[in-house]
Amino acid sequence: MQQFSYQNQELYCEDMSLAVLAEQYGTPLYVYSRAAICERYGAIREAFGEDAHICYAVKSNSNLSLLRAFHELGAGFDLVSGGELRRLQAAGVPTSGAVFAGVGKQEWEIREALAAGILFFNLESEQELEIFDQVVSDLGVTARLAVRLNPDVDAITHEFLTTATKQTKFGLDLTTAARVVERIHATEGLELVGYHVHLGSFLHEPGPYLRAFDRVEEFLDACPMPAAGPCYYDLGGGFGIAGPEQEPMDLAALAAELLPRVRARGFIPVLEPGRYLIADAGVLLTRVLARKPSVSKDFVVVDAAMNDLVRPALYGAEHPIQPLRADLAGTCHCDIVGPVCESGDFLARDRDLPMVDAGDLLAVCQAGAYGQSMASNYNSRRRPAEVLVDGSEARLIRRQESFEDLWSTEVDL
Ligand code: LLP
Repeated sequence: MQQFSYQNQELYCEDMSLAVLAEQYGTPLYVYSRAAICERYGAIREAFGEDAHICYAVKSNSNLSLLRAFHELGAGFDLVSGGELRRLQAAGVPTSGAVFAGVGKQEWEIREALAAGILFFNLESEQELEIFDQVVSDLGVTARLAVRLNPDVDAITHEFLTTATKQTKFGLDLTTAARVVERIHATEGLELVGYHVHLGSFLHEPGPYLRAFDRVEEFLDACPMPAAGPCYYDLGGGFGIAGPEQEPMDLAALAAELLPRVRARGFIPVLEPGRYLIADAGVLLTRVLARKPSVSKDFVVVDAAMNDLVRPALYGAEHPIQPLRADLAGTCHCDIVGPVCESGDFLARDRDLPMVDAGDLLAVCQAGAYGQSMASNYNSRRRPAEVLVDGSEARLIRRQESFEDLWSTEVDL
């Protein structure tokens, strides 16, 4: 993104030198650009129009300051747990624009989300209806439900990131969904407010969204919606960013093909983007500890590891990596690896990097989504700090964990 660019041979985030931030806060360090976030939000708004309800997928990066930033832009939120709801409350942002999916919602989560007045729940199973029924009659309230349909459409992505085929645990097949819709209509305190289809993550073509809507239309024709009340079509998230061989999702094309059909059916569109909004807006800074020559390549050992960014190990994700200095001479063919005691601990394999050596700083790009939010303490490593850059200002929005934080929940020593 243009928010990350070299100025005088040094990589900047907006008007802030990343090397200065690495010195000030140490590495590994997550750094986010507010301007990049705004730009991506603006791109989605422009493509999908003013009536679309954009719900930022909290799971992609749940830092409270970022939740506030998204709220300031006008976003609602896509939640998948009671913990994420508590985060919204801790951030002091409204919960009235939140939607709540999740294949295993528990009673306490449903109660808390009802009390918080969220926009709607995405209903994932027939059994979940029983919990809703129980809770709404206890509390004497109404629950707004969008039925999550599983249209059995291949999202054409990594197998772990596809969520709407028969082989996956998500949503309701269309036969069960028809039964569930009838039950919702027949149950006092439950209100059907629309449908939800989340196909998966890191999609690069509009095709699957359109094929899914074909199935939804077939379903609607056989099982019409009630006329009363607002009615949403929540098309989920999943918009892909640039990959090694992929262009980012063409949002204008997706919106042009899908939205007229969605609106013709009387739906208000709801979107749940995570990665598209925040992945490119973040980098993980890391310092080279050593370069270790081997038979066919070098191992560049850095101070960030799979616990800080698990995506390469878990999905074979390929994050672009670049040195913070643009004037390094020569190239080295290398694996970029962390200090964790597993051979799966790599940030990249078989890369050609400028010749880096101990002390040099690197930026692991496209790390804003599912980086810190999937980080762990494996090997008793402290999760990194996070900094939000706005022009020439940088604000620490999470300190690095202390060692005491690591064992603060362990009791009865
Ligand atoms: N809505 C629902 C119901 C979801 O399950 C997800 C992501 C999203 C929206 C947001 O999808 P996005 O726009 O970010 O693609 N950890 C993986 C990604 C898992 C996505 C899980 N669900 C990764 O690092 O690639």
